[in-house]
Amino acid sequence: MTIPAPIGWTADQGVRILDQTLLPEEERYLDLDSVDAVAEAIRTLRVRGAPLIGIAAAMGLTLAARRSPASLEAVCAASAALGATRPTAVNLHWALARMERRAAAAAAAGEDLAEALRDEANAIWAEDRAMCARIGAAGAALIGGDALILTHCNAGALATGGIGTALAPVYTLHQAGRRVAVVADETRPLLQGSRLTAWELSRAGVPVTVIADGMAASRLRRGDVTCVIVGADRIAANGDVANKIGTYGVALAARAHGVPFYVAAPSSTVDPATPDGAHIPIEERAPDEVAGWRGHAAAPPEARVWNPAFDVTPAELVTAIITDRGVFAPEDVAPRAG
Ligand code: MRU
Repeated sequence: MTIPAPIGWTADQGVRILDQTLLPEEERYLDLDSVDAVAEAIRTLRVRGAPLIGIAAAMGLTLAARRSPASLEAVCAASAALGATRPTAVNLHWALARMERRAAAAAAAGEDLAEALRDEANAIWAEDRAMCARIGAAGAALIGGDALILTHCNAGALATGGIGTALAPVYTLHQAGRRVAVVADETRPLLQGSRLTAWELSRAGVPVTVIADGMAASRLRRGDVTCVIVGADRIAANGDVANKIGTYGVALAARAHGVPFYVAAPSSTVDPATPDGAHIPIEERAPDEVAGWRGHAAAPPEARVWNPAFDVTPAELVTAIITDRGVFAPEDVAPRAG
C-alpha cells in the first residue's frame, strides 16, 4: 500500500513539504528554510489538515532556533507568527504551545535550544503517526467488515503524520483484505476531496467515487453507504465538531437517512478549553477561492462572496467519535480523550 509522505526534513534540517496546492496534477516537494516560508505554506494550504499543520508548525519553529545564538524570545516570536496563520485547527496551537514549553525548559536548563526543539517536533510527529494507527484499529473494529464509506474533505495521510484520521479505518480495513470503498465529496471551494482524498486512495489501491458536494444527500438516500467518517479541526468540550465547510450538511443528511455519522480525530484535536461550537473561531478565507478557480471566473465580479473554511456540526448529530484512546459518545470525548 503506497501512502504519501507530505512532510519531512531536508539534509540540512530544513522542512520539506509536498505542495498540496498542485495535486493531483503535479507532485512537487518544496524545501522551506525560514519560519516565514513555513507560515506562508500553512496559510496558503500547501501544507494542510489539522494534525499536519501542527507538525509543520513544530518543525518550522526549529528554524527560529537555528540562528546562533538561539534565543527564547526569537522562538516565541516565531511561534506567534506561525500561530496566526490559521485559527480553527486547535492542533496548530496545541503543538506550538507544547514547543514553547519545551523551549522554556531547555533555556532554563541551559540545553541546546535547536536540538531540544528538533527532538520535540520529532516526538509530536511520531506520536501523531501512532495516534493515526490507533484510530485506524478502533475504526476498523467499529465498522467490522466490508464497507462503503462517505467522507468529506481530506483527513487522510496528506493531512497527518501517519495514515490519516477519517481514512485510517479505510486503510486498516483495506490492508486486512476487506472490500472497502470510499465516496469522496469533492469539497468546494478548494477541492480537497477530489484533488487529495481521491489521489491518495487511488495510489493505495482503494476504489473511490468522487461526487460533487450537492450529491451527498442523494447518495446517502440510496442506502448503500455504510457510514460517514470525517475528520475534525477542533472538538469542543460538549462534543461539537468543527470541520471543513460542508460537513454539517452531510451530518444532517446522514441523520435524515439513518446513516451513522462518525468523526475520527486524535486527542490533540480535542479542546476542553472551548465549551461549545459557538466558541470555535471559524476561519474566513479570500473571496476569490469561491468566485474563481485557478485564474478562471466562477462568478461575476459584482457578486458578493461568503467563504468560511469550516462549519460546526452539533454533538447531537454525531453518532460517535473515533479517537486514539477509543470510541466515545461526543459528550464523553473531552473528559476521556481531551
Ligand atoms: O482547510 P484544510 O484543508 O486544512 O481543512 C482540513 C479539514 O477540514 C480536515 O477534515 C481536518 O483538518 C482533519 S485532518 C485529519
